[in-house]
Amino acid sequence: MADKKKTGKGTKRPLGISTKSVHGGEERHKYGDSVTVPIVQSSTFIFRDENDIREYTSGHKKRFEYARYGTPTTRTAELKLAELEGAEDAQLFDCGMSALTSALLANLSMGDHLVITRDVYKKTLQFAKNDLPRFGIEVSIAEPCAEAVGEAITPRTKVIFSESPTNPYGHVVDLGKIGKIGKKAGVLVFLDSTFATPYNMKPLDYGVDLVIHSATKYLAGHNDIMAGVVLGNADLVGKIRAYQKTTGGCTDAHSAYLLIRGLKTFALRVERQNRTTMEVAKYLEKHPRVKRVWYTGLPSHPCHEIAKKQMKGFGGCMSFEVDATLSGVQRFLRNLKIAQMGPSLGGTETLITHPASITYYDMTRKQRYDIGMTDQLVRLALGVEDVEDIIADLEQALAKI
Ligand SMILES: Cc1ncc(COP(=O)(O)O)c(C=O)c1O
Repeated sequence: MADKKKTGKGTKRPLGISTKSVHGGEERHKYGDSVTVPIVQSSTFIFRDENDIREYTSGHKKRFEYARYGTPTTRTAELKLAELEGAEDAQLFDCGMSALTSALLANLSMGDHLVITRDVYKKTLQFAKNDLPRFGIEVSIAEPCAEAVGEAITPRTKVIFSESPTNPYGHVVDLGKIGKIGKKAGVLVFLDSTFATPYNMKPLDYGVDLVIHSATKYLAGHNDIMAGVVLGNADLVGKIRAYQKTTGGCTDAHSAYLLIRGLKTFALRVERQNRTTMEVAKYLEKHPRVKRVWYTGLPSHPCHEIAKKQMKGFGGCMSFEVDATLSGVQRFLRNLKIAQMGPSLGGTETLITHPASITYYDMTRKQRYDIGMTDQLVRLALGVEDVEDIIADLEQALAKI
Protein backbone atom coordinates (compact mmCIF):
# COMPACT_ATOMS: atom_id res chain seq x y z
CA MET A 1 0.00 0.00 0.00
CA ALA A 2 1.31 3.42 -0.91
CA ASP A 3 2.36 5.61 2.00
CA LYS A 4 0.05 8.38 0.86
CA LYS A 5 -3.58 8.29 -0.24
CA LYS A 6 -5.27 10.89 -2.38
CA THR A 7 -7.75 12.92 -0.43
CA GLY A 8 -11.00 14.17 -2.00
CA LYS A 9 -9.27 17.33 -3.21
CA GLY A 10 -6.49 15.45 -4.95
CA THR A 11 -3.82 16.47 -2.43
CA LYS A 12 -1.70 13.81 -0.77
CA ARG A 13 -1.32 13.34 2.95
CA PRO A 14 0.42 10.58 4.89
CA LEU A 15 -1.73 7.81 6.32
CA GLY A 16 -2.04 7.54 10.09
CA ILE A 17 -0.16 4.88 12.02
CA SER A 18 -3.34 2.93 12.90
CA THR A 19 -4.33 2.76 9.21
CA LYS A 20 -0.83 1.58 8.34
CA SER A 21 -0.99 -1.02 11.14
CA VAL A 22 -4.20 -2.44 9.70
CA HIS A 23 -3.64 -2.17 5.93
CA GLY A 24 0.10 -1.54 5.44
CA GLY A 25 1.97 -4.00 3.24
CA GLU A 26 -1.15 -5.98 2.34
CA GLU A 27 -2.52 -6.65 -1.11
CA ARG A 28 -6.03 -5.25 -1.49
CA HIS A 29 -7.44 -8.48 -2.97
CA LYS A 30 -6.14 -11.61 -1.36
CA TYR A 31 -6.35 -15.33 -2.07
CA GLY A 32 -9.95 -16.61 -1.82
CA ASP A 33 -11.14 -13.02 -1.25
CA SER A 34 -10.16 -13.33 2.40
CA VAL A 35 -9.89 -10.14 4.43
CA THR A 36 -6.94 -11.53 6.40
CA VAL A 37 -3.48 -12.33 5.04
CA PRO A 38 -3.30 -16.02 4.01
CA ILE A 39 -0.78 -18.24 5.81
CA VAL A 40 1.22 -19.68 2.93
CA GLN A 41 2.68 -22.68 4.73
CA SER A 42 5.04 -23.96 2.06
CA SER A 43 8.75 -24.66 2.26
CA THR A 44 9.18 -24.44 -1.51
CA PHE A 45 7.49 -22.78 -4.50
CA ILE A 46 7.06 -24.49 -7.84
CA PHE A 47 8.03 -23.33 -11.34
CA ARG A 48 5.66 -23.95 -14.21
CA ASP A 49 8.31 -24.47 -16.92
CA GLU A 50 11.78 -23.38 -18.13
CA ASN A 51 10.49 -19.92 -19.15
CA ASP A 52 9.23 -19.38 -15.63
CA ILE A 53 12.67 -20.33 -14.29
CA ARG A 54 14.47 -18.08 -16.79
CA GLU A 55 12.29 -15.07 -16.03
CA TYR A 56 13.00 -15.51 -12.34
CA THR A 57 16.74 -16.16 -12.55
CA SER A 58 17.26 -13.26 -14.98
CA GLY A 59 15.57 -10.95 -12.49
CA HIS A 60 12.62 -10.13 -14.78
CA LYS A 61 10.06 -11.66 -12.47
CA LYS A 62 9.78 -11.35 -8.71
CA ARG A 63 8.44 -14.48 -7.07
CA PHE A 64 9.13 -16.90 -4.24
CA GLU A 65 11.51 -19.84 -4.58
CA TYR A 66 12.30 -21.39 -1.20
CA ALA A 67 11.01 -20.42 2.25
CA ARG A 68 14.45 -19.56 3.67
CA TYR A 69 14.42 -16.70 1.12
CA GLY A 70 10.92 -15.60 2.13
CA THR A 71 7.26 -16.49 1.68
CA PRO A 72 4.22 -14.39 0.72
CA THR A 73 3.24 -14.20 4.41
CA THR A 74 6.68 -13.19 5.74
CA ARG A 75 7.03 -10.62 2.94
CA THR A 76 3.68 -9.03 3.84
CA ALA A 77 4.84 -8.70 7.46
CA GLU A 78 8.07 -7.06 6.25
CA LEU A 79 6.25 -4.55 4.06
CA LYS A 80 3.85 -3.67 6.88
CA LEU A 81 6.76 -3.14 9.31
CA ALA A 82 8.62 -1.01 6.73
CA GLU A 83 5.56 1.25 6.40
CA LEU A 84 5.26 1.61 10.17
CA GLU A 85 8.94 2.49 10.60
CA GLY A 86 9.08 4.72 7.50
CA ALA A 87 11.85 2.52 6.07
CA GLU A 88 12.56 1.58 2.45
CA ASP A 89 12.78 -2.09 3.31
CA ALA A 90 12.65 -4.60 6.15
CA GLN A 91 13.97 -8.10 6.76
CA LEU A 92 12.27 -10.41 9.20
CA PHE A 93 14.16 -12.86 11.46
CA ASP A 94 13.09 -15.63 13.80
CA CYS A 95 13.96 -13.52 16.86
CA GLY A 96 15.48 -10.21 17.85
CA MET A 97 18.89 -11.70 18.61
CA SER A 98 19.25 -13.23 15.14
CA ALA A 99 18.21 -9.88 13.61
CA LEU A 100 20.86 -7.93 15.46
CA THR A 101 23.69 -10.49 15.29
CA SER A 102 23.05 -10.91 11.54
CA ALA A 103 23.03 -7.14 11.03
CA LEU A 104 26.45 -6.90 12.73
CA LEU A 105 28.01 -9.95 11.09
CA ALA A 106 26.82 -8.89 7.63
CA ASN A 107 28.55 -5.53 8.06
CA LEU A 108 31.72 -6.28 10.01
CA SER A 109 34.83 -8.14 8.85
CA MET A 110 38.15 -9.10 10.37
CA GLY A 111 40.09 -5.97 11.33
CA ASP A 112 36.97 -3.78 11.64
CA HIS A 113 36.00 -1.98 14.82
CA LEU A 114 32.60 -1.69 16.53
CA VAL A 115 31.56 0.92 19.07
CA ILE A 116 28.73 -0.31 21.29
CA THR A 117 27.09 1.50 24.19
CA ARG A 118 27.44 -0.05 27.63
CA ASP A 119 23.79 -0.48 28.66
CA VAL A 120 22.43 -2.36 25.62
CA TYR A 121 20.48 -5.60 26.19
CA LYS A 122 22.62 -8.04 28.20
CA LYS A 123 22.86 -10.68 25.46
CA THR A 124 23.73 -8.07 22.82
CA LEU A 125 26.67 -6.91 24.92
CA GLN A 126 27.67 -10.51 25.56
CA PHE A 127 27.73 -11.18 21.80
CA ALA A 128 29.81 -8.06 21.16
CA LYS A 129 32.26 -8.79 23.97
CA ASN A 130 32.63 -12.57 23.66
CA ASP A 131 31.83 -13.51 20.07
CA LEU A 132 32.83 -10.70 17.70
CA PRO A 133 36.50 -10.67 18.85
CA ARG A 134 36.70 -14.39 17.89
CA PHE A 135 36.30 -13.21 14.28
CA GLY A 136 38.99 -10.54 14.58
CA ILE A 137 36.50 -7.72 15.12
CA GLU A 138 37.63 -5.20 17.72
CA VAL A 139 34.96 -3.88 20.09
CA SER A 140 34.93 -0.71 22.22
CA ILE A 141 32.28 -0.29 24.89
CA ALA A 142 31.33 3.37 25.28
CA GLU A 143 29.20 5.16 27.84
CA PRO A 144 25.73 5.72 26.35
CA CYS A 145 26.17 9.34 25.30
CA ALA A 146 27.06 10.85 21.96
CA GLU A 147 30.33 12.42 23.16
CA ALA A 148 31.71 9.11 24.49
CA VAL A 149 30.66 7.34 21.30
CA GLY A 150 32.40 10.01 19.19
CA GLU A 151 35.61 9.65 21.21
CA ALA A 152 35.63 5.85 20.80
CA ILE A 153 35.61 6.00 16.97
CA THR A 154 38.86 4.95 15.26
CA PRO A 155 39.80 4.92 11.55
CA ARG A 156 38.71 1.25 11.51
CA THR A 157 35.24 1.81 13.01
CA LYS A 158 32.50 0.53 10.72
CA VAL A 159 29.45 0.46 13.00
CA ILE A 160 28.10 2.27 16.06
CA PHE A 161 25.52 0.13 17.88
CA SER A 162 23.24 1.62 20.50
CA GLU A 163 19.85 1.10 22.09
CA SER A 164 17.26 3.61 23.29
CA PRO A 165 15.56 3.63 25.72
CA THR A 166 17.47 0.95 27.60
CA ASN A 167 16.47 -1.47 30.28
CA PRO A 168 15.96 -1.32 33.26
CA TYR A 169 16.76 2.39 33.77
CA GLY A 170 15.25 3.82 30.58
CA HIS A 171 18.42 5.60 29.50
CA VAL A 172 17.94 7.57 26.27
CA VAL A 173 20.66 8.47 23.75
CA ASP A 174 20.45 11.65 21.69
CA LEU A 175 19.72 10.20 18.26
CA GLY A 176 20.37 13.43 16.35
CA LYS A 177 23.86 13.73 17.84
CA ILE A 178 24.76 10.06 17.27
CA GLY A 179 23.36 10.25 13.71
CA LYS A 180 25.58 13.27 12.97
CA ILE A 181 28.67 11.64 14.50
CA GLY A 182 28.07 8.56 12.32
CA LYS A 183 27.63 10.61 9.13
CA LYS A 184 30.72 12.76 9.81
CA ALA A 185 32.90 9.70 10.45
CA GLY A 186 31.39 7.66 7.59
CA VAL A 187 30.28 5.02 10.11
CA LEU A 188 26.95 3.17 10.07
CA VAL A 189 24.65 3.75 13.05
CA PHE A 190 22.49 0.81 14.20
CA LEU A 191 19.85 1.32 16.87
CA ASP A 192 17.88 -1.26 18.83
CA SER A 193 14.55 0.54 19.19
CA THR A 194 12.62 -2.35 20.78
CA PHE A 195 11.54 -0.42 23.88
CA ALA A 196 10.46 2.68 21.93
CA THR A 197 8.58 1.04 19.00
CA PRO A 198 7.79 2.90 15.75
CA TYR A 199 4.74 4.39 17.47
CA ASN A 200 6.90 6.40 19.86
CA MET A 201 10.11 7.02 17.93
CA LYS A 202 11.37 7.17 14.33
CA PRO A 203 15.18 6.78 14.55
CA LEU A 204 15.63 6.89 10.74
CA ASP A 205 14.50 10.54 10.80
CA TYR A 206 17.53 11.36 13.00
CA GLY A 207 20.24 9.90 10.79
CA VAL A 208 20.20 6.35 12.18
CA ASP A 209 20.99 3.92 9.32
CA LEU A 210 19.44 0.71 10.62
CA VAL A 211 16.65 0.17 13.14
CA ILE A 212 16.40 -3.20 14.86
CA HIS A 213 13.48 -4.55 16.88
CA SER A 214 12.83 -7.63 18.89
CA ALA A 215 9.37 -8.02 17.30
CA THR A 216 8.69 -10.59 20.03
CA LYS A 217 7.74 -7.57 22.18
CA TYR A 218 5.41 -4.69 21.22
CA LEU A 219 5.21 -5.43 17.49
CA ALA A 220 3.75 -8.94 17.84
CA GLY A 221 2.33 -7.81 21.16
CA HIS A 222 0.71 -10.97 22.58
CA ASN A 223 3.55 -12.84 24.30
CA ASP A 224 3.03 -15.71 21.86
CA ILE A 225 5.77 -15.62 19.19
CA MET A 226 9.45 -14.84 18.70
CA ALA A 227 10.45 -12.53 15.84
CA GLY A 228 12.97 -9.85 14.94
CA VAL A 229 13.34 -7.28 12.20
CA VAL A 230 15.92 -4.92 10.69
CA LEU A 231 14.75 -1.80 8.83
CA GLY A 232 16.59 0.76 6.74
CA ASN A 233 17.46 1.65 3.17
CA ALA A 234 17.14 -1.02 0.48
CA ASP A 235 20.91 -1.49 0.05
CA LEU A 236 21.65 -2.04 3.73
CA VAL A 237 18.65 -4.31 4.28
CA GLY A 238 19.50 -6.14 1.03
CA LYS A 239 23.00 -6.87 2.34
CA ILE A 240 21.59 -8.32 5.57
CA ARG A 241 18.98 -10.31 3.60
CA ALA A 242 21.74 -11.83 1.45
CA TYR A 243 23.57 -12.84 4.65
CA GLN A 244 20.40 -14.41 6.08
CA LYS A 245 19.92 -16.43 2.88
CA THR A 246 23.10 -18.33 3.71
CA THR A 247 22.97 -18.36 7.49
CA GLY A 248 19.23 -18.85 8.14
CA GLY A 249 17.36 -17.41 11.08
CA CYS A 250 14.24 -17.05 8.93
CA THR A 251 10.66 -16.83 10.20
CA ASP A 252 7.96 -19.32 9.30
CA ALA A 253 4.60 -18.30 7.83
CA HIS A 254 2.64 -19.10 10.99
CA SER A 255 4.71 -16.75 13.14
CA ALA A 256 4.60 -14.10 10.41
CA TYR A 257 0.80 -14.38 10.37
CA LEU A 258 0.62 -13.93 14.15
CA LEU A 259 2.93 -10.93 13.82
CA ILE A 260 0.66 -9.43 11.16
CA ARG A 261 -2.38 -10.06 13.35
CA GLY A 262 -0.66 -8.53 16.35
CA LEU A 263 0.31 -5.49 14.29
CA LYS A 264 -3.33 -4.76 13.44
CA THR A 265 -3.76 -3.42 16.99
CA PHE A 266 -0.20 -2.13 17.39
CA ALA A 267 -1.07 1.57 17.61
CA LEU A 268 -4.04 0.91 19.92
CA ARG A 269 -1.97 -1.20 22.28
CA VAL A 270 1.08 1.06 22.47
CA GLU A 271 -0.99 4.19 22.92
CA ARG A 272 -2.78 2.45 25.81
CA GLN A 273 0.50 1.16 27.28
CA ASN A 274 2.01 4.69 27.12
CA ARG A 275 -0.95 6.09 29.09
CA THR A 276 -1.17 3.26 31.62
CA THR A 277 2.57 3.31 32.32
CA MET A 278 2.57 7.06 32.88
CA GLU A 279 -0.32 6.74 35.34
CA VAL A 280 1.27 3.86 37.21
CA ALA A 281 4.64 5.66 37.32
CA LYS A 282 3.00 8.75 38.84
CA TYR A 283 1.15 6.58 41.36
CA LEU A 284 4.32 4.71 42.38
CA GLU A 285 6.40 7.88 42.60
CA LYS A 286 4.16 9.02 45.47
CA HIS A 287 3.95 5.65 47.22
CA PRO A 288 5.66 5.51 50.65
CA ARG A 289 6.97 1.96 50.02
CA VAL A 290 8.68 3.00 46.77
CA LYS A 291 12.15 4.54 46.99
CA ARG A 292 12.56 5.62 43.40
CA VAL A 293 10.88 5.30 40.00
CA TRP A 294 12.68 5.27 36.63
CA TYR A 295 10.38 6.20 33.77
CA THR A 296 11.52 8.49 30.95
CA GLY A 297 8.08 10.09 30.91
CA LEU A 298 8.57 11.53 34.42
CA PRO A 299 10.32 14.90 34.82
CA SER A 300 12.39 13.24 37.58
CA HIS A 301 14.09 10.94 35.02
CA PRO A 302 17.57 12.21 34.03
CA CYS A 303 16.83 11.68 30.29
CA HIS A 304 13.33 13.16 30.32
CA GLU A 305 14.24 16.24 28.25
CA ILE A 306 15.98 14.28 25.46
CA ALA A 307 13.15 11.72 25.50
CA LYS A 308 10.58 14.52 25.10
CA LYS A 309 12.50 15.86 22.10
CA GLN A 310 12.66 12.63 20.14
CA MET A 311 9.76 10.48 21.40
CA LYS A 312 6.01 10.83 20.91
CA GLY A 313 5.27 8.68 23.96
CA PHE A 314 7.51 7.10 26.58
CA GLY A 315 6.63 3.43 26.21
CA GLY A 316 5.22 0.69 28.38
CA CYS A 317 8.16 -0.15 30.64
CA MET A 318 9.34 1.33 33.91
CA SER A 319 11.45 0.29 36.89
CA PHE A 320 11.22 1.09 40.56
CA GLU A 321 12.99 0.36 43.80
CA VAL A 322 10.84 -1.05 46.56
CA ASP A 323 11.61 0.26 50.04
CA ALA A 324 12.03 -3.18 51.64
CA THR A 325 14.48 -5.98 52.37
CA LEU A 326 14.98 -8.71 49.75
CA SER A 327 12.36 -10.91 51.46
CA GLY A 328 9.96 -7.93 51.53
CA VAL A 329 10.45 -7.48 47.76
CA GLN A 330 9.84 -11.20 47.24
CA ARG A 331 6.64 -10.97 49.36
CA PHE A 332 5.46 -8.05 47.21
CA LEU A 333 6.09 -10.00 43.98
CA ARG A 334 4.46 -13.17 45.34
CA ASN A 335 1.29 -11.32 46.28
CA LEU A 336 0.58 -9.72 42.90
CA LYS A 337 -2.62 -11.06 41.38
CA ILE A 338 -2.60 -9.45 37.90
CA ALA A 339 1.04 -8.69 37.10
CA GLN A 340 2.85 -11.99 36.51
CA MET A 341 6.49 -12.66 37.22
CA GLY A 342 8.42 -13.33 34.04
CA PRO A 343 10.85 -11.84 31.55
CA SER A 344 9.83 -10.05 28.34
CA LEU A 345 7.60 -7.06 27.75
CA GLY A 346 5.29 -5.45 25.26
CA GLY A 347 2.49 -8.02 25.27
CA THR A 348 -1.12 -7.83 26.39
CA GLU A 349 -0.30 -9.27 29.84
CA THR A 350 1.47 -7.15 32.46
CA LEU A 351 4.78 -8.74 33.41
CA ILE A 352 7.08 -7.93 36.27
CA THR A 353 10.69 -9.00 36.69
CA HIS A 354 13.20 -8.90 39.48
CA PRO A 355 16.51 -8.38 37.61
CA ALA A 356 18.62 -9.44 40.61
CA SER A 357 17.12 -12.96 40.65
CA ILE A 358 16.22 -13.46 36.97
CA THR A 359 18.35 -11.52 34.45
CA TYR A 360 21.45 -11.16 36.64
CA TYR A 361 21.18 -14.39 38.67
CA ASP A 362 24.67 -15.40 37.50
CA MET A 363 26.42 -12.40 39.07
CA THR A 364 27.60 -11.94 42.62
CA ARG A 365 25.75 -9.37 44.69
CA LYS A 366 28.81 -7.05 44.45
CA GLN A 367 28.93 -7.35 40.65
CA ARG A 368 25.21 -6.58 40.47
CA TYR A 369 25.42 -3.61 42.81
CA ASP A 370 28.38 -2.22 40.84
CA ILE A 371 26.10 -1.91 37.79
CA GLY A 372 23.16 -0.66 39.82
CA MET A 373 21.10 -3.89 39.99
CA THR A 374 20.04 -3.79 43.62
CA ASP A 375 17.89 -6.42 45.35
CA GLN A 376 15.10 -3.82 45.54
CA LEU A 377 14.85 -3.09 41.81
CA VAL A 378 11.86 -4.40 39.86
CA ARG A 379 10.88 -3.83 36.24
CA LEU A 380 7.24 -3.49 35.33
CA ALA A 381 6.15 -4.00 31.70
CA LEU A 382 2.55 -2.95 31.35
CA GLY A 383 0.03 -4.92 29.33
CA VAL A 384 -3.35 -3.64 28.20
CA GLU A 385 -5.38 -4.35 31.34
CA ASP A 386 -7.38 -1.54 33.03
CA VAL A 387 -5.05 0.85 34.81
CA GLU A 388 -7.32 0.98 37.91
CA ASP A 389 -6.94 -2.79 38.30
CA ILE A 390 -3.15 -2.66 37.91
CA ILE A 391 -2.88 0.10 40.50
CA ALA A 392 -5.18 -1.75 42.92
CA ASP A 393 -3.08 -4.88 42.44
CA LEU A 394 0.17 -3.01 43.18
CA GLU A 395 -1.45 -1.32 46.18
CA GLN A 396 -2.55 -4.56 47.84
CA ALA A 397 0.80 -6.27 47.16
CA LEU A 398 2.84 -3.29 48.47
CA ALA A 399 0.67 -3.31 51.60
CA LYS A 400 1.80 -6.92 52.27
CA ILE A 401 5.50 -6.01 52.50
C1 LIG B 1 16.19 -4.53 23.77
C2 LIG B 1 16.22 -5.95 23.32
N1 LIG B 1 16.80 -6.25 22.16
C3 LIG B 1 16.84 -7.51 21.71
C4 LIG B 1 16.30 -8.55 22.43
C5 LIG B 1 16.35 -9.94 21.90
O1 LIG B 1 15.14 -10.25 21.29
P1 LIG B 1 14.57 -11.75 21.20
O2 LIG B 1 14.29 -12.19 22.58
O3 LIG B 1 13.36 -11.59 20.32
O4 LIG B 1 15.65 -12.55 20.55
C6 LIG B 1 15.67 -8.28 23.65
C7 LIG B 1 15.08 -9.38 24.45
O5 LIG B 1 14.61 -9.21 25.55
C8 LIG B 1 15.63 -6.94 24.12
O6 LIG B 1 15.07 -6.63 25.30
